[in-house]
Amino acid sequence: MISRPSNSGTATPHEGFSTEQYFETQPPPPDLDARIQPARDFVERWNRVEGKKVVVVTSGGTTVPLEANTVRFLDNFSAGTRGSTSAEYLLSAGYAVIFLHRQHSLKPFSRHYSHSLNPFLDLLHLPEPGASRQDISVTNQDANHLLPVLKAYKEAQTAGTLLQMDFNTVNDYLWILREMARVMGVLGRRGMFYLAAAVSDFFLPLDRMAEHKIQSVKGNLVLEMDQVPKVLRPLVQEWLPEAYIVSFKLETEQALLIPKAQKALTRYGHQAVVANDLHKRKHEVCLVEKTPRSGQEADSTSEFTETWLKLEQLANRKTSSGSTPEIEELIIDELLKRHEVWLKG
Ligand code: PMT
Repeated sequence: MISRPSNSGTATPHEGFSTEQYFETQPPPPDLDARIQPARDFVERWNRVEGKKVVVVTSGGTTVPLEANTVRFLDNFSAGTRGSTSAEYLLSAGYAVIFLHRQHSLKPFSRHYSHSLNPFLDLLHLPEPGASRQDISVTNQDANHLLPVLKAYKEAQTAGTLLQMDFNTVNDYLWILREMARVMGVLGRRGMFYLAAAVSDFFLPLDRMAEHKIQSVKGNLVLEMDQVPKVLRPLVQEWLPEAYIVSFKLETEQALLIPKAQKALTRYGHQAVVANDLHKRKHEVCLVEKTPRSGQEADSTSEFTETWLKLEQLANRKTSSGSTPEIEELIIDELLKRHEVWLKG
């Protein structure tokens, strides 16, 4: 059992931690500054290019360690598909992309050859007997798929438009996100945050965490966790009021999806929520926004606008490489238009 300490923190457990209390009491990852430096350089470089838009894409699930010397942890569901796929479409739309992802989750480009679904080695063919080792080959059919992926990957590498950073725990995530907000501030409205990561709502404060592996001989494990402060609020309202911010809402009950997305917009005041149902997330999502109250749309009576995006809308867009359509293409198409409007402010 993990016992609760005698009220040593600055917040009582049931009040929860405010964002300030969280950062006062939970230590940053030891190498935080070194991890952020490449992002500072990246943003500084692209900020000098007139009109260049920069997006931070968060992707994958955060972990919550149960022990300081971590053997066990809780995890949030996310393979990183949404974030890594979206990052590719953002790159092809001309954004410079900072891809902030859970260590070992899917990444742009390499996601097409994930070890479980499409292992890279299975694409390769051994040289004919007697041929040299340079003659390792891929079949024509595989090359058709590989070539556009490889081209886009090399283009991003050459242009330096993709920076990848990783996190593991929810604590890493929160500290890095706050630093990224500071770094992105110089871009003003050219900055976008695309928050697809699945972030834990609960954590175990350091002063209540067991130092070593929890021993099973002590009987049942009873955990009481504190709430992670919702960093979306300070992100939108204090750290980065000018950026275009898109959050995600994942639900497993369809009836809750839109109301909860609307509630998030009302509560945090950001620009858009991509609402997705766990089981339908690859086929349909809903982009939820506050209805603009000025200009030609002033007549609208509804406080929110919902734009449903469905994979079938891409049915006629099959590419020559035969790659399967992806709903992220639609999401990014829609967000591009909105970010353009936001830029004009
Ligand atoms: O990677 P895949 O397998 O493709 O899955 C993609 C996905 C389903 C995980 C993704 O599309 C998705 O929905 N991600 C968000 C899931 C989620 O954690 O939702 P939430 O209700 O916990 O959080 C809503 C928003 O609040 C998120 O954008 C998050 O960044 C933000 N948040 C969450 C917790 C927290 N303490 N602070 C926050 O700001």
